[in-house]
Formats: sequence, structure tokens, C-alpha cells
Amino acid sequence: MPSTQTNVAPSFRKTTETFTAGAKSLSQRYFVSPEIFADEQKKIFSAQWVLAGHQSQITRSGDYFLSEIAAENLIVVRDQRSTIRGFYNVCRHRGTRLREDQTGHASVIQCPYHAWTYALDGRLLGAPHMDDVPGFDKADYSLHPVHLGLWEGFIFANLADSPTPLDKWFAPLAGKFSHWNLPKLRSAKRIDYDVQANWKLIFENYSECYHCPGVHPALSKLSPYDSAENDLTEGPFLGGFMRITKGNSLTMSGKSCALPVGDFRDFHRIFYYSIFPNMLLSLHPDYAMLHQLRPMSPERTLIFCDWFFHPEAFERKDFKPEDAIEFWDMTNKQDWHVCELSQQGIASRAYEPGPYSTRESIPAAWDREYLRYVS
Ligand code: FES
Ligand SMILES: [Fe+2]
Repeated sequence: MPSTQTNVAPSFRKTTETFTAGAKSLSQRYFVSPEIFADEQKKIFSAQWVLAGHQSQITRSGDYFLSEIAAENLIVVRDQRSTIRGFYNVCRHRGTRLREDQTGHASVIQCPYHAWTYALDGRLLGAPHMDDVPGFDKADYSLHPVHLGLWEGFIFANLADSPTPLDKWFAPLAGKFSHWNLPKLRSAKRIDYDVQANWKLIFENYSECYHCPGVHPALSKLSPYDSAENDLTEGPFLGGFMRITKGNSLTMSGKSCALPVGDFRDFHRIFYYSIFPNMLLSLHPDYAMLHQLRPMSPERTLIFCDWFFHPEAFERKDFKPEDAIEFWDMTNKQDWHVCELSQQGIASRAYEPGPYSTRESIPAAWDREYLRYVS
């Protein structure tokens, strides 16, 4: 843990939010149209840096997990030199999917069909009987790579041919989260949710607490809905913090559930940031919660939620991750339910865009950012 800095978040500076009178929710087509969904998959999910996982999922050479971005299945693997690499999960022989299990460990990647075998860095090592084929050269048949990058320990993939460098994309956030030791943290639990709502409704829901008094009574008791202060108010990264006024953390008991993840002076703020296009990062004093979104159709989104803790917290007697997991599993389900109700109502012929309140400046900013990619 860092021991010299004690500010809660050195780069936090409250911003005067731009509340645009007249800002309204998006038109129906953005939530129901297969054409717009396809356009998003092309212009956003196939062109931007998209969260795929965290480096702690693959700590040893040979560890891998599968990820899916814009309907492309990817193998994310730590190779024999400990470099994290990404490949399309497509055999160079006749295209067969190479791995089916979502996570695993392997010394090589072997196709289940005719046993072409690839090294962890993607080189084709063996292809039975192909030496008999005139002109065949294994060097021409490495796995197709995908661009990967690491930000704060999180693994991002980009399907573009020549993506914006990851460091440049994340430059506005450089050093902002160093207090949370995110590269070192480990997940204690992942819960997958299958939500019958458009992925944008999840972002819009996350970006305001106007709904909290009615939807989240337990959360509102610990963290008043009107305590939000935002510092990122325009662009692909949006959010700020809310205060904890009762208890010490957002848990069922209201008590801290683990060793602090960093060195803080103020233990009574929770930072919430949305990171375009599929990441929600919620930073608590004693844990970091991550939501990873995978849009499946206009009306369906898979959400993978992880609870990350300090690696030394796991062995201690005061480690009670379930106190945080239960709290947010309950709160997540409350959110997903209202998102599903929104989806149902928005699909109606009676729906028309409604006015955002002064407490919904961040959803309005998120919509503006989204429309820069798809309009
Ligand atoms: S399709 Fe993979 S070895 Fe034939
Ligand atoms: Fe909520």
C-alpha cells in the first residue's frame, strides 16, 4: 500500500456540471432497433477499447480466459514469457473454435478438429500431414492476433486495425486511481447477470442517484442520494463520489469488510465512474466493484460483476467479502429490475423521450458522448 500520500483522491476537483435545460432521454429506436444495435457493434464495440478482464484472472503462463466482443470470441492468454496476448478463437486450418471452456490452463493451444497446435504466442507449431502440401509454411498460419492493452491492471481489447494507443485513450485518467492499487487487487467473487434491457439503460441508471430513495432503501440509509459530487462531467469517462454518512462501508452490516485497498484519510466516500463503452468502476475504501457489460441484443445485456479486494485481505480473520457482495447483489438486482421495466415501457408506442432532471446531468452527458459515435 502507498504510505506517503494521504489525500482521498489527489486529482479530484469538483466540476460545475453542465445541466442542459431541455435535455431528454434518447429516442425509442436507440433501445429497440436491430439496425442501431448493429451500428453500435461496428462503430463502438469493434472500434474502441473494450474491457475484457483483469490481469489477476491469468497469473501464470498458460492461464487463459475467453472473452466476447462484438460477437467475436477471443482467447486472452498469458504466454510463456508472461506477456498477455489476445487471439481470435479461430483455427487457421478450417476455422474451428479452438477453446470452449471459459477459463483454463494449457501449455499449447490445440484445435479439437485436426489437432493443429499453436504456441501461447500464437505461432503454429504443428500441423499433421501439412508438410506434404507443396508451398505450405507454418509461419504463414499463426493465430490472428487482437490488440490488447492494460490499464490499472484491467485488460482491454480493441478489434480495430490501427487503434488509438491505449495510453492516449486513458490519458485523462492517468494516476487518478493509484490510491486503490487496482493492478494488485484480486476478485473474491463474480456474479453474472442476464438483464433484459438495453446496455445503455444500465449506464444511464448507474449515472444518477435520483432513483435511489425509492429503488435502494438500504443504500440510501448509508449514502444519501443527494450527496453526489462529480468531477468528470463530459466525455467517455464520467462520475464522481458520494458520501457514506452512516457506517464505514457499503455492506449489509455497514461495517468495513476487509483490509483497506489503499491508504486513505477519508473513508467515507465511494467513487463511481463509468468508462465508455462497457465498464463501471465503483471504488470503496475496502473493495472495488467492477461491472463489465456485454450487449447481446437491443433488449438484452449480460453483466459480469466482480468484487476486488486487497490480496492480503484474503487470509485475515476480518475478511468478510460476503458482507459487500450481498449488499451489492441486492442493489444490482434492484437496478436491473428498474432497467427491465424501462425497457418494457420504452418499447411501447406511447413512449417519447422525457426530460432529464437537474440530478441527471451525467446520464445526459453519457448520451451526448454515445451520440458522438452513433447518430
Ligand atoms: S479446423 Fe482446426 S485443425 Fe482443422
Ligand atoms: Fe441504482
